[in-house]
Amino acid sequence: MRITPRPPETVAPADIDLFDPERFRSGDQHGAWRTLRETAPVWWHERAGQSGFWCVTRYAECERVLKDYRNFSSEHGTILASVGAPDPAGGATISLMDPPRHTALRTQAMRSFSHTVVRNRTPRVTARVAALVDRLGEGEQDLAELARSLPMAVTGELMGIEEQYWDRLAHWSAVGLTPEDPAFAVGASTAATLSTSHHEIFACFMEIIAHKRANPGDDLISALIALAPGGRPMDDGTLLLNCYSFMAGANSTTPHVINHTVLALAERPDLWRSVAADETLVPALVEEGARWTSTPYHLVRRAVNDVVLAGVPIAAGDWVCAWLPSANRDESVFADPYEFSLRTLPSPHLGFGAGPHYCIGAPLSRMALGVFFRELVRRFDGVDITAPPQHLYSNWINGFSSVPVRARRRPAVASSMPAAREGACAHGTS
Ligand code: HEM
Repeated sequence: MRITPRPPETVAPADIDLFDPERFRSGDQHGAWRTLRETAPVWWHERAGQSGFWCVTRYAECERVLKDYRNFSSEHGTILASVGAPDPAGGATISLMDPPRHTALRTQAMRSFSHTVVRNRTPRVTARVAALVDRLGEGEQDLAELARSLPMAVTGELMGIEEQYWDRLAHWSAVGLTPEDPAFAVGASTAATLSTSHHEIFACFMEIIAHKRANPGDDLISALIALAPGGRPMDDGTLLLNCYSFMAGANSTTPHVINHTVLALAERPDLWRSVAADETLVPALVEEGARWTSTPYHLVRRAVNDVVLAGVPIAAGDWVCAWLPSANRDESVFADPYEFSLRTLPSPHLGFGAGPHYCIGAPLSRMALGVFFRELVRRFDGVDITAPPQHLYSNWINGFSSVPVRARRRPAVASSMPAAREGACAHGTS
């Protein structure tokens, strides 16, 4: 069973559909993206009876769209679901604002995610992540389920979310991020599932915000409460949306970099052995995991001026979709792009985006993913995939609802687990 994508054949342009979530679940879209990079790097995607959108597939144009916020705005929505129906949270959250308003909020939020904060958090994160990795040693496990709990364990404290909320928020985020996926459906329709998940998540955050107003701390939510963009504090609705934005940023991405990277390593035992023998290779593994996975699949912007992109005129008001897995397989930037390999750093990949909205959680994610893979190769020789992984039904999140695996323990360290013990003794687990 080969899981990871092979170098693709090109496909007939008439067969390309980059909207239908089923096409992302039952296969991959690398053939379509390669075709577009080679023949129509800025391509108009028709949709019967609905708004079409431009597809941008080469590295250079994707980077341009993400960096050029003066022409390509985030304020109307950043995912394909917003095309033709602008996001009602536009202009209110960090990810749906353009500079200069965005800059004020981002500068404040950066303090909660700085390299210094991340460095100080590393011991506690290590203990928590090591405990999760330990669970992989308990017979057959669903890696996707386990990975879903990692973002809260890593970001929860830093955001100011008490541990009692972590499981609920992780669960309802998974439901809300892919409400079309039958694995997460809780309502009779996608809209009902989405509404239930939002209700549950906002109920948690209302309690958390009320608590933080009374007991401010050194955390992101307290910082957002204290912030007064434009001279006025945010109202509760705007605070809720921003809390959601940060949590969704973490939950929609980090678990799937783990899933994809472990699947790639399962097919490349030589790389697993290399990293186990030389842990200085872990950062290269993390970067390649982010390039290889490229989740979210896409970042959407709306043109606010008439503009020309790679010779193609784009009209003000048009929606433009940058496909990250395509940019990250661009042959003009990456040698052997369909090969998972430990590349020279720094890797220029766009897995964390580019420009003013470059992922604010990138330093934290890099640290947490590094800890995860280091603890993984310290404990295990490899993993066996025990049943076909189930890909998400989503054109947005490149991930899995389920990845059944059995990890093979390394005999020499079966009972020692140095890092977990060290973290737990020195720093506790809560
Ligand atoms: C491997 C893990 C991650 C990946 C691949 C990833 C990817 C991305 C990407 C591609 C963007 C750009 C969005 C855009 O341009 O519209 C972004 C932005 C963002 N990410 Fe992440 N992310 C990761 C982890 C996290 C974590 C752990 C957090 C939580 C703290 C987070 C929070 C955010 C936020 C709030 C933004 C918006 C920043 C802004 O608009 O200024 N991300 N992320």
